[in-house]
Amino acid sequence: MSHYADICSKLKENPRSWLITGVAGFIGSNLLETLLRLDQNVTGLDNFSTGFRHNLDEVKELVTPEQWSNFNFIEGDIRDLDTCRKACAGVDYVLHQAALGSVPRSIEDPINTNENNISGFLNMLVASRNEPVKRFVYAASSSTYGDHPDLPKVEDKTGNPLSPYAVTKLVNELYSSVFARTYGFNTIGLRYFNIFGQRQDPDGAYAAVIPKWFASIMKGEPVYINGDGKTSRDFCFIDNCVQANILAATSDERAANQVYNIAFGQRTTLNELFELIKERVVKKFPEAKDTRPIYRDFRPGDVRHSLADISKARELIGYEPEFSIRSGLDRAAQWYIRRFS
Ligand SMILES: NC(=O)c1ccc[n+]([C@@H]2O[C@H](COP(=O)([O-])OP(=O)(O)OC[C@H]3O[C@@H](n4cnc5c(N)ncnc54)[C@H](O)[C@@H]3O)[C@@H](O)[C@H]2O)c1
Repeated sequence: MSHYADICSKLKENPRSWLITGVAGFIGSNLLETLLRLDQNVTGLDNFSTGFRHNLDEVKELVTPEQWSNFNFIEGDIRDLDTCRKACAGVDYVLHQAALGSVPRSIEDPINTNENNISGFLNMLVASRNEPVKRFVYAASSSTYGDHPDLPKVEDKTGNPLSPYAVTKLVNELYSSVFARTYGFNTIGLRYFNIFGQRQDPDGAYAAVIPKWFASIMKGEPVYINGDGKTSRDFCFIDNCVQANILAATSDERAANQVYNIAFGQRTTLNELFELIKERVVKKFPEAKDTRPIYRDFRPGDVRHSLADISKARELIGYEPEFSIRSGLDRAAQWYIRRFS
């Protein structure tokens, strides 16, 4: 039995109380699905700014009525400290996902990104520390590597942030380490590298590349590549990310108060990604076979290459990603095909 499977079976025998912020979003709703399937008690907090009620409805369909009855949803905003306090009451583990994602959004509206991602984060830290929560796991980001040229990225070698979004994620890490030092509070930051999979929103100006391309290829709309297509990313399937959160929350003290890369550990260029997605769409939509990408300017704030060294997460929290980009895209394709058929 893998370490993760072992942790899951222990949780099932001995259920805990969890809080997921951003529960109606992509990553939050996937965390919710897994935790409810493990018979955990879950409180979820979301203000529906970028998340959707239909994500929660989909999870409800995927779990049993008993499991769903273990879920308590609070519609509210992390920018309000009282709401955070209410949500943290009686919770063992916090999985803090609520934030405004997207580099371009943060360039257009840095103030709003700052309020959600820094003030909201600080409220959640304060509310969790007062409760007290056993472990506060939060969504950090690979954008923290900024302009550091080294590949693969290792946790202690970061450069200058390249966007307001990256600044907010760096400040989250700084606040967490200060809370550890000042109050002895236990946190873990997971630096996600391009997570993708079911329930990632394909619509809107700030959609991520994988859902956007699935949707565009299926609908026969133009597919744009920013730059020459040789930009590369370490794309990581959502189930690997869910595993990392559960392991981080339940890991021993030795692993606490650190940040970890969460990725698959393999680099894929945008040109390769386009072909991988098209290959999968064509099986269901043969007319998509002639789709060609349209190249346009590089996007400001984007890093050129990204690849994670995941050995720290492997060693200290027992992270073993089960899905490669190919097997993850197979799963994601099934979901997008259902959605657009
Ligand atoms: N998806 C990725 O590849 C990726 C990569 C790096 C980091 N992250 C981080 O992971 C987290 C989750 O991202 P996601 O991809 O699921 O995005 P998402 O937009 O689908 O989910 C974010 C959720 O947070 C909610 N939210 C936002 N502001 C809130 C507020 N003030 N109060 C309450 N709820 C609020 C939104 O309504 C949404 O449901 C974010 O912190 C994001 O920055 C994601």
